[in-house]
Amino acid sequence: MMSAPTRTSEAKPASKTESKLDRNAEPVTERVALGERAYDIVIGRGLLASLGRRVAALKPGAKAAIVTDANVGRLMLSVAEQALAGAGVGATHVSVPAGESSKSIAMFERVCDALIAARVERGDVVVALGGGVVGDLAGFCAAAVRRGLDYVQVPTTLLAQVDSSVGGKTAINSRHGKNLIGAFHQPILVVADTALLDSLPPREFRAGYAEVVKYGLLGDAGFFAWLEANSDDLFAGRVAAREHAIAVSCRMKAEIVARDERETGDRALLNLGHTFGHAFEAAAGFSSRLLHGEAIALGMTLAFEFSARLGFAPEADADRVKRHLGKVGLPTHISHVPGGVPGVDGLVDLMAQDKKVRRGRLTFILAHRIGEAFVAPDLDVAQVRAFLAHKLER
Ligand SMILES: NC(=O)c1ccc[n+]([C@@H]2O[C@H](COP(=O)([O-])OP(=O)(O)OC[C@H]3O[C@@H](n4cnc5c(N)ncnc54)[C@H](O)[C@@H]3O)[C@@H](O)[C@H]2O)c1
Repeated sequence: MMSAPTRTSEAKPASKTESKLDRNAEPVTERVALGERAYDIVIGRGLLASLGRRVAALKPGAKAAIVTDANVGRLMLSVAEQALAGAGVGATHVSVPAGESSKSIAMFERVCDALIAARVERGDVVVALGGGVVGDLAGFCAAAVRRGLDYVQVPTTLLAQVDSSVGGKTAINSRHGKNLIGAFHQPILVVADTALLDSLPPREFRAGYAEVVKYGLLGDAGFFAWLEANSDDLFAGRVAAREHAIAVSCRMKAEIVARDERETGDRALLNLGHTFGHAFEAAAGFSSRLLHGEAIALGMTLAFEFSARLGFAPEADADRVKRHLGKVGLPTHISHVPGGVPGVDGLVDLMAQDKKVRRGRLTFILAHRIGEAFVAPDLDVAQVRAFLAHKLER
């Protein structure tokens, strides 16, 4: 069980936090306390304009290499380049096709080649401008080129702002499964400009919201209740609600990463919903048929239902999770997976390829209640099979 995070702003009445954020005077800064690898996550509206100043302050004299994807590049590459140029930071860029398929060995090679061809040196900085795909790919390239370059995350999706840009997990996919080739490589700064979310397609926003809910479910029942009460504001684009949710999420992730950078302990709680979720993503061919966050929403619903079935969690909590995720339009039943799923055997096979499997035993993140997840290693596959069979027949 994870201990309750120490909180500042989210422990205050929401109105106080929101009035500060409504004025939008100061960005919120969360720190990932990792000794000499510590870094800030800066959250606020309009922060992209300050990118050059922030990079120059951290890396005087560095030049930057921006890695982005085609969609994000079209929308915000020139703004990022101007922000860097305005502070005297020269920049090159490399763009990859949008989507999960860019987390590939072929794209890893292409980006590494581009960085080397652009003469990016050890003193320079890579800027990952995009969602989780760009962040994971650019971060892994930064970990590898010249045995390690510094990089800055500029996350442009909700999922990336609350999760993938923080914590230093970088990876690409192998034909054997997702995120199987990668490295732990911490960024030196995360700049989360919430204005960048304005252009995000609603379906992508909703998928990212699943990761926000995850923090409430795994470690903060009060935050989950806040989300139940405020999700309409979040989806309507209310600045104060969005920044509050992003800041609370980042703070929780920062605290967990600082306690367990390499996932030997409770960082695994961040995988709530992932063993089920990755199997559904694989079943959908890692395609836009089922987005990562959508798969995680379904996975979290199942993790709570499984917890209830095993007697760990109250049924009422599982119902509440399902109700909230369903209310915002996220998938909560296996039948919601477009194109269908391969049946119990097929799903268990897909789970067994997930990296949260040790010596053939399945590790699940289960819950005692909303806000209290725990790692259940060595789960009996027969119990998983029985649960899936039950869910598939309903
Ligand atoms: N490293 C980690 O700790 C970690 C954690 C969670 C997820 N992930 C990874 O993150 C990936 C998913 O990330 P994602 O959901 O951000 O997907 P993504 O990066 O594919 O972005 C989703 C889509 O939105 C577009 N887009 C991005 N920002 C936009 C903007 N501001 N306006 C308009 N369009 C925009 C992209 O071009 C893409 O088409 C998965 O590969 C997952 O494995 C990594």
